[in-house]
Amino acid sequence: MKTNRLSDTLAQALNDQMTKEAHASQIYLSYAAWADGEGFGGIANFLFRHAGEERNHMMKILEYILKRGAKVKVVAIPAPPSNPTSVNNCFEKVFEHEVDNTKAVYKIVKMSFNEEDWITWNFMQWFVKEQDEEETLALELLDKIKICGGEKATHQALYELDKDLEKTPDDATLARDVTTEEP
Ligand code: FEO
Repeated sequence: MKTNRLSDTLAQALNDQMTKEAHASQIYLSYAAWADGEGFGGIANFLFRHAGEERNHMMKILEYILKRGAKVKVVAIPAPPSNPTSVNNCFEKVFEHEVDNTKAVYKIVKMSFNEEDWITWNFMQWFVKEQDEEETLALELLDKIKICGGEKATHQALYELDKDLEKTPDDATLARDVTTEEP
């Protein structure tokens, strides 16, 4: 009796996405280590926390593949890209990475839609919302560094930013949650 409820193509796409989330975790980990080495302990703390979040995303997909009766393939995680050249560059890279991940999530949503696999489609909506949050958070980082002067940010401004990020919550407020009372 066949108990695998995922098509081969979707199982492969989900396995690929699982690796992509692990890769994202490595990227945040490497940027965090870079930031710490540059003396930005607060930025590093923020990025280390995020590395953990990405690892959780990987686990969610791994668990989903198993629960749907398909095979999980744990493969090598690609190396993260080169270190950022500045805090401004770091935040730009974070934003670009999140946009790239959103595109990958959309692809699986579309595949599951085309296959009329509504359980996978429904599962992937969690990731769609997560990407909304992560892009919003990454854009907020870019706004902060822009206010600090971007590539020309002074040591004083970077010092303040570093302190701020130590306390920045991991979740951004989404447009859908905004009200007139709480803009
Ligand atoms: Fe798991 Fe930042 O995407």
